Amino acid sequence: MQHKDKVSVVTGASQGIGWAIANKLAAKGSRVIIGDIHKFTEDFPFEVIYEYLDVTDQSSVKRFFETVEQRFGRLDILVNNAGIMFEKHFLETRVEDWDRMMAVNLRGVFICSQTAARLMVKNGGGAIVNIGSIEGNACNPDHAPYAASKSGVHGLTRAIAVDLGPYNIRCNAVLPGWIVTALNEGYFETLKNREKAEQAMIALHPAGRLGSPADVANMVSWLASDEAAWVTGHEFIVDGGRLTRPSIADFDNIQ
Ligand SMILES: NC(=O)c1ccc[n+]([C@@H]2O[C@H](COP(=O)([O-])OP(=O)(O)OC[C@H]3O[C@@H](n4cnc5c(N)ncnc54)[C@H](O)[C@@H]3O)[C@@H](O)[C@H]2O)c1
Repeated sequence: MQHKDKVSVVTGASQGIGWAIANKLAAKGSRVIIGDIHKFTEDFPFEVIYEYLDVTDQSSVKRFFETVEQRFGRLDILVNNAGIMFEKHFLETRVEDWDRMMAVNLRGVFICSQTAARLMVKNGGGAIVNIGSIEGNACNPDHAPYAASKSGVHGLTRAIAVDLGPYNIRCNAVLPGWIVTALNEGYFETLKNREKAEQAMIALHPAGRLGSPADVANMVSWLASDEAAWVTGHEFIVDGGRLTRPSIADFDNIQ
């Protein structure tokens, strides 16, 4: 069992990608504590523990990790997965929109990583995996705060790896592409021809399908494991090949 006797925290794991990550770590033998602002509604096939956590609130983060320490006495793995996304044109984006996005997606990663790392130092090391995005490296329209927050996560990942290397703490980022979850379900819901839209989206992927939360969880699980002992400070894209193919003009339809 890859994560036997490990203690893991996954933030924002009540649904979507985080749910799949928590599930994967538990399936591989880890004790898993989920921190989220709402409790999961879809049951886990493996035992996980839920504790309330708001990653934007420093006192909530402090309380959460104190509980982890009291219950388990150690922490080996932290997955910073909690995140939000909304769409607004750059010219319409208010400072409050920007601040909210940064508070969850970037500041939350900083506070949780620092608090968790202090625990990891006590037990001789650990692994942090941050969920970034391909939108931290390339950007769709109306996504300025989201793209900036995820670029920040990628930069923070490198900084954590550099500063915490001497403490035997590794830090990497997983950059998902289009993963089918509630976060991007809204795109399809607003469209008249959902099936056609989905096919057009799939066509952007050399792998021939959209991603599943399990695709991301598999990479996270490996990066958090001892098999990745010499891997730190890097970005791992899980996108079905989407970023490998630059877009090209639709020559066939040019008269
Ligand atoms: N779905 C995608 O296509 C995709 C692509 C790239 C990156 N990501 C990233 O993956 C992560 C998970 O995305 P998802 O699609 O599963 O989203 P989701 O909306 O399904 O789940 C996000 C979870 O985060 C929790 N959360 C939100 N604010 C929180 C807070 N302040 N404190 C604690 N928990 C909070 C929510 O309650 C929810 O359970 C996010 O960081 C997202 O940016 C998703």
